[in-house]
This record gives sequence, structure tokens and C-alpha cells, in this order.
Amino acid sequence: MKAARGQGKTIGVVPTMGALHEGHAELIRRARAGTDYVVVTVFVNPIQFDRKEDLDKYPRDLATDVALSESLGTDAVFAPPVEEMYPDELMTSVDVTGITTRLEGEYRPGHFKGVATVVAKLLNIVQADRAYFGEKDAQQLAVIQKMVTDLNLPSEIVPVETVRESDGLALSSRNRLLTPDQRSVAPLVYKALSAARDALRSGKTPVEARTEALKVLAGTQDMTVQYLEIADAANMMPVDRMTGPVRVAAAVWLGKVRLIDNVLVS
Ligand code: PAF
Repeated sequence: MKAARGQGKTIGVVPTMGALHEGHAELIRRARAGTDYVVVTVFVNPIQFDRKEDLDKYPRDLATDVALSESLGTDAVFAPPVEEMYPDELMTSVDVTGITTRLEGEYRPGHFKGVATVVAKLLNIVQADRAYFGEKDAQQLAVIQKMVTDLNLPSEIVPVETVRESDGLALSSRNRLLTPDQRSVAPLVYKALSAARDALRSGKTPVEARTEALKVLAGTQDMTVQYLEIADAANMMPVDRMTGPVRVAAAVWLGKVRLIDNVLVS
């Protein structure tokens, strides 16, 4: 990386937790097209998991991740062990407030502090000019954008649109943990979000749109809706009327697998 920087090359980073899929591939392609030297980081960050069980079962497959990254023209894969990222007791962390209180922040205490802290570390390590993040994790994207602005970090954050299966299911490393039955009902999440989006576009209120979306999911076998909200796209706070762009965002449990997704309505 130092050599690339010395030659005046721009550096792009794609931070990931591995188990790479087509969604990550799209981030890498965008980085490849937008910068001269592409670094993919693969690090399952323990401090962003609120449940140890989730950390333990997070899929890991470094050899496949390296092969996929290389096939897409990645210049370097940075996959540090936990002891390298956190050699000593961590006494400094990045806590983005406000936009982290609702949605994911409400149900995953400490999650965004862990994300912001590790992303700040990775941006510092890689010294990236640009960092690429998927819109599937819309709140995470908003948190990282705010952190970079507030702390004057010198990396540009580039949002990349969610990649979906042909049935609408947003790609996620967690999809591979679904049973065939769970996989067959998982696309209902996007269907529900789309129903809310259509309702908003047709002039219905956020409350009405939310009801439409919940109807799509009602009674689905093995599915529990943790939240389904219509939130201001900038501050991620639920709204009861449309005054600007919103995200319809949801988190559902399918058995023991938690899926999140969102759509933007502007
Ligand atoms: O989105 C992810 O995969 C992770 O939250 C990230 C941004 C790599 C930080 O660990």
C-alpha cells in the first residue's frame, strides 16, 4: 500500500467481514473502477456483535474470499487476526450518537460503536482515498458518513446500491445460514418493503404504508418481525409524515437468522 501511495496511486478500500458474495463483488468492482489500488479487508469484528452466538456462527471462508477478491482485480487482501486489530485493552472508541438510537441501534446495543471504531481503524490503517459500503446496511452507511464528516477523516465514503437475488432477497452473508424453507419465505421482506414504498408513492401516510408492509409478512411461518419502520433517510428517526427522503427499513428473524433490508423512497 505504501508503494502504491508513493507512486501517487489512489487507494480504494472495501471493508468486509468475509463470506463474500455478489454484493461484495459489486463493491470491489466499484472500487476497481474508481481507484488505482484496491484493498479488501476481511475481519469478523468481535466488538460489533451484541450476541456471542452470532459471532461464533458468522460464516468464515478466507481462502474463497481471497480467490474471489483476486479474480476481481483486488491488489491486496488485509485479513488481520483479532490480536493484531486489538492487541491491548481498547480504551478508545468511536460513538456516533443520535442516528444510532433507533432501528438497529435500538436492538443491537453497542453494535454501531463497534462498527464505527473498527471502520475508523481500518481507514487509518489503509489510508484509503475512498471506501465503499453497501446501502443494504443503510443505517451503518449513515453512521460511517457522519463519523467521517465529524472527525474530518480524509476518506470519501461511496455508497453502493443493494444487490438482490432475482426474487428480491438482498444478498447477505447470513443468507447461507437459512434452511430451504426459510430461504423460500425470505423474499417476502423485500416484498413488504416494496409494498410500503408503493403505498408512500401513492400518497399514503407512513402509518398506512407500514400497515401495508406488515400485512405482507403477517402469518409467515418461522418469521418474527423485530422492526419495520419508515425513517428519515438522513437521521434514521421514524417519521409519521413525509417531508423528505425516507428509508423503509426492517429487521426480521427467520428462525435463528436475523435479516435486515431497506428501500429508499425519495
Ligand atoms: O458491513 C460489514 O461487513 C461490517 O459492519 C464492516 C463495515 C466491515 C465493519 O466490520
